[in-house]
Amino acid sequence: MFKAIVAFSSLFPFVAQATAPLYGQCGGQTYTGDTNCAAGATCVYSNSYYSQCLPAGTGGSSSLTTHSGSTSVPANPTSGSSSAPSSTSTPDAGNPYNGYTVYLSPYYAAEVQQASASITNVGSKSKALSVGNIPTFTWFDVIAKTSDLGTYLADADSLSKSSGKKYLVQIVVYDLPDRDCAALASNGEFSIANGGEANYRMYIDRLVAQIKKYPNVRVVAVIEPDSLANLVTNLNVAKCSGAQTAYKNGVTYAMQQLNAVGVYMYLDAGHAGWLGWPANIDPAAQLFATLYKTAGSPQFVRGLATNVANYNALSAVSPDTSITQGNPNYDEMHYINALAPKLQSQGFPAHFIVDLGRSGQQGIRQQWGDWCNVKGAGFGIRPTTNTGSSLIDSIVWVKPGGECDGTSNNSAVRFDAHCGQSDALQPAPEAGSWFQTYFEQLVNNANPSL
Ligand SMILES: *[C@@H]1O[C@H](CO)[C@@H](O)[C@H](O)[C@H]1NC(C)=O
Repeated sequence: MFKAIVAFSSLFPFVAQATAPLYGQCGGQTYTGDTNCAAGATCVYSNSYYSQCLPAGTGGSSSLTTHSGSTSVPANPTSGSSSAPSSTSTPDAGNPYNGYTVYLSPYYAAEVQQASASITNVGSKSKALSVGNIPTFTWFDVIAKTSDLGTYLADADSLSKSSGKKYLVQIVVYDLPDRDCAALASNGEFSIANGGEANYRMYIDRLVAQIKKYPNVRVVAVIEPDSLANLVTNLNVAKCSGAQTAYKNGVTYAMQQLNAVGVYMYLDAGHAGWLGWPANIDPAAQLFATLYKTAGSPQFVRGLATNVANYNALSAVSPDTSITQGNPNYDEMHYINALAPKLQSQGFPAHFIVDLGRSGQQGIRQQWGDWCNVKGAGFGIRPTTNTGSSLIDSIVWVKPGGECDGTSNNSAVRFDAHCGQSDALQPAPEAGSWFQTYFEQLVNNANPSL
């Protein structure tokens, strides 16, 4: 009898099989669970680690938009002090955002629309929908996505022609070989041991080829979140020291090639709780300045991006002392004000953009280095060029809120312990996949409110 049932169910496997829920996992290497999705959802490939049940009709692959951001606390965090130059609220004349309309990522807009559809509370639903109108960066985390850039640029170009406005497309360049060297959640597709540097050049060349076709559309790029910051503080990690040359070569190549097609670039500079420590800030300024000179001081390198995918305040009402432990640069404004003169004195253009997409709520982390799906976070200050500082070109949203930082499944290949901590929201899907509960939390905790 038992045998008969087995035979029957193998003839009709669909009947016998359970289904994975909406936004649940439905595939990926070493995954052994259900591969069919519940009614109304389709199994969509994200990457080799993960497929996810998304609302039926959602096209395309998921965009990996995570970042790690380990914090290195120096032995004596109270030594040294910051010198804050005076700042004014006049934007710099060379600010690439001035006079431009920022293009809305259709990919993120579609994610937000789908996510909002499954929110039942009417107030929350309309707030959630409004997030689709806030510009966020699009992350190019795999070479397969580079052709999407051409689609967005063509779209922005035609919007520009029909409206008479000038358009700006925001991208994140994020595909270095041996990526995310100090963490596990966002390990990338290229490895140094397997032609990674050449592959990376091909990736950059493909972006450049698309950008070249649309000279009327301005492109602003954040270059390689975490990469150079890892070289400042994490060379004790073997994967980071092993990646040092490849990261420097890759970032130099990106600067030179993207400069040739007029892309305004901001190199990623970690955040206050990482490179803002007195022991880290001088080596950081030195590294940025040296690489910039090595690349030939490209004129479209505009400065640095801070707080990408992180949670720090721009100007905290008071230091979150339980995590900032005496760091004088306890928020992004203090960090930027301390870093700028160190860059300027070495000839590096000290202009900044700051990601405040998830910075709406403070006092939510157990440690400053906690970066993964932090509980209690809310959407933050909206993108604006009215930044209150002549050093800051624009407040931006780089991390698309709702896309996961990393899986909380401790048997997954890319599990990072930060994503299993008690201040990380769980259960969390793979990095870059849609994390519906997290999105709803960001909506409900938004500050200013949506
Ligand atoms: C966790 O990951 C393992 C390995 O991919 C998989 O077999 C398992 O089903 C996952 N568990 C959950 C709860 O998603």
